[in-house]
Amino acid sequence: MALLQGKNALITGASRGIGLAIAKRFAAEGANTVLCASRLGAHGDLHGTLEGAVAAIQTAGGRAAAEVCDLSDDSARADLVARAEAHFGPLDIIVNNAAASSMRLPSEVTREQRNRMYEVNLNAPVDLAQQALPGMRERGCGWILNISSFSAKQPVVPYRDSQIAAHVITAYGATKAALDRYTQGLGHEVAADGVYVNTLAPENIVLTSGADYVRDIARRSPDMAEPVEVMAEAALLLCSDRCVGQVCYSRQLLHARGRRVMSLDGHSDLGDAFLPADLDATA
Ligand SMILES: NC(=O)c1ccc[n+]([C@@H]2O[C@H](COP(=O)([O-])OP(=O)(O)OC[C@H]3O[C@@H](n4cnc5c(N)ncnc54)[C@H](OP(=O)(O)O)[C@@H]3O)[C@@H](O)[C@H]2O)c1
Repeated sequence: MALLQGKNALITGASRGIGLAIAKRFAAEGANTVLCASRLGAHGDLHGTLEGAVAAIQTAGGRAAAEVCDLSDDSARADLVARAEAHFGPLDIIVNNAAASSMRLPSEVTREQRNRMYEVNLNAPVDLAQQALPGMRERGCGWILNISSFSAKQPVVPYRDSQIAAHVITAYGATKAALDRYTQGLGHEVAADGVYVNTLAPENIVLTSGADYVRDIARRSPDMAEPVEVMAEAALLLCSDRCVGQVCYSRQLLHARGRRVMSLDGHSDLGDAFLPADLDATA
């Protein structure tokens, strides 16, 4: 029996990168997936589109639908859960994966950049959780996974890379720290109702197109990069198990649970969570 057979999942930021990998892995486990991004088609030279992501899952035999929503706009996201539920039925799973980032020194980050990061990275996950929770609690079943970042924690000294690299992620990291804290509290509030809320972050870097600014760091320190399959496998674990309000890191979680990493189609065992990254891959 597939782990998510018949479950309905909304994954935000699923047109490419980590979100698309999670959607593919969930669909391979039998989930009906609703993929959300801010636009359907191509945008500049960005890798991957929402319509292409949905088509890829369908071609592989999975069930998928698209929902376009700019998550930085609170009125646009106000009915996103209802729109997602119109595709396959009530949501069992939400993965809040979409994020906004601005690489600016903490002394220079603008109000506009801060507002956008807090809207997409904190307020949107809170809004989607609050839209879905009444139904999940009534049914006594649900999973909400918020995708966080190692940048939520203060970097240790001496820095792994440059001091500038450590500082420019501060404001973005602050939004993820807020998301971690909110998740811990919500997770403990709703677990008794059968709803499991956690955060998951890559151990360091996943070489998505959204991670271009850290590609050089990953080349200098290959052990800091991990394949996208590691996040997808850890997300699957947290959306099928009963973890309560945990702030999890992908490799540590899989290692601690003795869980193997599978290919996104679920067919091949790729090894343990510490398998080497393919630095030329772009998810
Ligand atoms: N990659 C890493 O190394 C890394 C490290 C730590 C944490 N993370 C976290 O992992 C998650 C995914 O990162 P990623 O690197 O895979 O990102 P990515 O490749 O940049 O993809 C971002 C996704 O979010 C969507 N998105 C962005 N803004 C949106 C908005 N306003 N409304 C709706 N959708 C929006 C994008 O679609 P459109 O552009 O079409 O809207 C795209 O599907 C994020 O939460 C990020 O903070 C990543």
